[in-house]
Amino acid sequence: MNNNKIIEEIRKLSDLLSLYQNAYYLQTNPLISDLEYDRLFDRLLFLEKGNPEFVLPDSPSRRVGSDFSQDIPEVLHSIPVLSLDKGYSVESIRDWMDKTISKAGSELSFIVEEKIDGVSIVLYYKKGILNLAATRGNGSVGNDITANVRTIKSVPLRLTEDVDIVARGEIFLPLAEFEKLNSLQEVPFANPRNLTAGTLRRKKSIDVAAVPLEIFIYEGFMDNTEMNHVEILTFLKKLGFKVSNSIGVFSSSKSLTPSLNSGNKESNSLWFRGDFKSLSGYVKKHTKERENLPYEIDGLVIKVNEIDVRESLGFTGHHPRWAIAYKFESPEGTTVIKEIDVQVGRTGRITPVGRVEPVLIGGSTISNVTLHNQEYINILELAIGDTVSVSKRGDVIPAVERIVDKNEDNIPVWKMPERCPSCKQDLEIKGAHLFCVNSECPDQVKGKIFFFLGRNQMDVEGFGPETADYLIEQGFIKTIPDLYSFDYTRLEGLPGFGSKKIKLISNGIKKSLDQPYSRILPSLGIPELGKKAVELLIISGLRDVDDLIKIAAEKDVDKLVSIKGIGERTAEIIINEFSSTIILDLIKDLKTAGLKFEEKEILKQDMFPQIFSDQIWCITGSFENYKPRSLAENEIVKRGGKTTSTVTGNTTHLLAGESAGSKLVKAKSLGTKIITEEKFMEILNNNE
Ligand code: IVH
Repeated sequence: MNNNKIIEEIRKLSDLLSLYQNAYYLQTNPLISDLEYDRLFDRLLFLEKGNPEFVLPDSPSRRVGSDFSQDIPEVLHSIPVLSLDKGYSVESIRDWMDKTISKAGSELSFIVEEKIDGVSIVLYYKKGILNLAATRGNGSVGNDITANVRTIKSVPLRLTEDVDIVARGEIFLPLAEFEKLNSLQEVPFANPRNLTAGTLRRKKSIDVAAVPLEIFIYEGFMDNTEMNHVEILTFLKKLGFKVSNSIGVFSSSKSLTPSLNSGNKESNSLWFRGDFKSLSGYVKKHTKERENLPYEIDGLVIKVNEIDVRESLGFTGHHPRWAIAYKFESPEGTTVIKEIDVQVGRTGRITPVGRVEPVLIGGSTISNVTLHNQEYINILELAIGDTVSVSKRGDVIPAVERIVDKNEDNIPVWKMPERCPSCKQDLEIKGAHLFCVNSECPDQVKGKIFFFLGRNQMDVEGFGPETADYLIEQGFIKTIPDLYSFDYTRLEGLPGFGSKKIKLISNGIKKSLDQPYSRILPSLGIPELGKKAVELLIISGLRDVDDLIKIAAEKDVDKLVSIKGIGERTAEIIINEFSSTIILDLIKDLKTAGLKFEEKEILKQDMFPQIFSDQIWCITGSFENYKPRSLAENEIVKRGGKTTSTVTGNTTHLLAGESAGSKLVKAKSLGTKIITEEKFMEILNNNE
């Protein structure tokens, strides 16, 4: 093929595939089958691979993302990227409208849009081609994240007209997708916005392509336009942008109501039209209906429709005078980050914790917020002194939702220390977190003792955290075995330690000697040896700790891996742990103290009929009775089944919960047996 022919075919394929992509993602109206699409796509990739010099800047292949790791450079915005002023009541919005009308000195119309709770983005198009996608940053300098934004299917790479335009919009993750993805995160995000922000900062665009982010465009800036905002929105749609359909147009008189007949009639007919009196009802309706939206909004935005008036109203350093946000009330509180402390967990994991000015949220006073790790802080761009919005969703630990105001002293983004705050040893990075690997680190040891005594572990009565803290601080207890060898009568006479209390403590300790092995072993806090794993070991016949010590001495990974539910990684960690003298000494000392390290009784779990043996199950979607999903996995494994994370030809069953996605499609195409939650519970019940 000669070059001209190649160029022509590439152009044709790019156009066609862009058209199909737009139909699919913007209008959710596929024009061709997936198979045909893939065929054309593969052809384009083939041509582009052989002729990289002819790849078009708007090629649909650029959405796939790349595996190339990129830093995120800074760019200067050519428009001021402003924020919004806000009001919390319809009255304050009406006041603002009245004032704006009197400032303008003429009748006005106002547009009400949804305030999408995502990440603000500015898209720069030159001659209709996406040239730059930048974050808001500080309003004049943002981050260039073009490669990442290109992977978002509803961001047009080429517009339907060759215009120069700057479009502002919000990138967001639909709620259902957030729930799905967040359950897999090592550090779960507080909300879809933070997960979106985190995704957009990824260094490899291919990782962004894997997250189904979406966009709504709400502003378009062009030179010398005569259009009003409604007309601009209509034009933006025509150019191929995704614009929300939830838009209200309010005017004082009929004649002012902007024509809604231009552009795409069908979608514009969804836009609401009314007079100022109807505004309050509109706001109420949308406040109520936000619950049912598939994405999060945190308010409404009210904007002047007339662009010439916008220009004469101008802006303050922070926000335009022609728009205001009506913010929904939310179970969030605003407070200031006073300090960030670093905590050392029992596993040595280092967690930054924000100390905030106490703030009342949902009935409880919050003074600490979890900040997870350095990456989380980077995503928030958090510094001491920043004013933040803090939420308490459900019963979870309060989280920072967003920064409301940066500190005025230009304090930089907070950085983790390089040394352990407790033992001063250098920290090591493992996955997303920093760890102190010194097993004698005082904070770690304290964490281990607390864990051991806790209600879900040894459940030692009379030994609350305060008592433990006191005894550790006084140096009476330094290790877990000390709990059993310490002479508690020595406490007599010390403040807070009457004879009754001392008796309670020593009785609690004595009683804990009766705890079974299946409870003692997980209480030691050995990595990978939680209740579930210990249960699996015991069921498989490893009823004595000496069995594990022997396996470790022989480095018999295979023996452990042959146990259903124990993977290679877990096996290796167990072997490592049971070879370490620290663990062996600990077990020896606890044995001497009288703790049991063998299970004589047959566990109830042994009696489950092995109805799933030879079956391979994959689990997808969310479940009412199995939260987290590993509970369902347990049920399968206990009954002899194996589980897998992907559907393949070997998968025999797919347990499909609510909003199951691609795995369900794949299972259907492979003819895998699909089992609903209800059916699954029925199977378990019938075989009890
Ligand atoms: S207009 C100069 N419209 O809210 C134009 N903003 O708190 C100012 N936002 O930074 C923005 N939905 O990221 C506008 N329909 C909408 C919006 C919207 C969400 C975000 C935007 C802005 C932030 C201000």
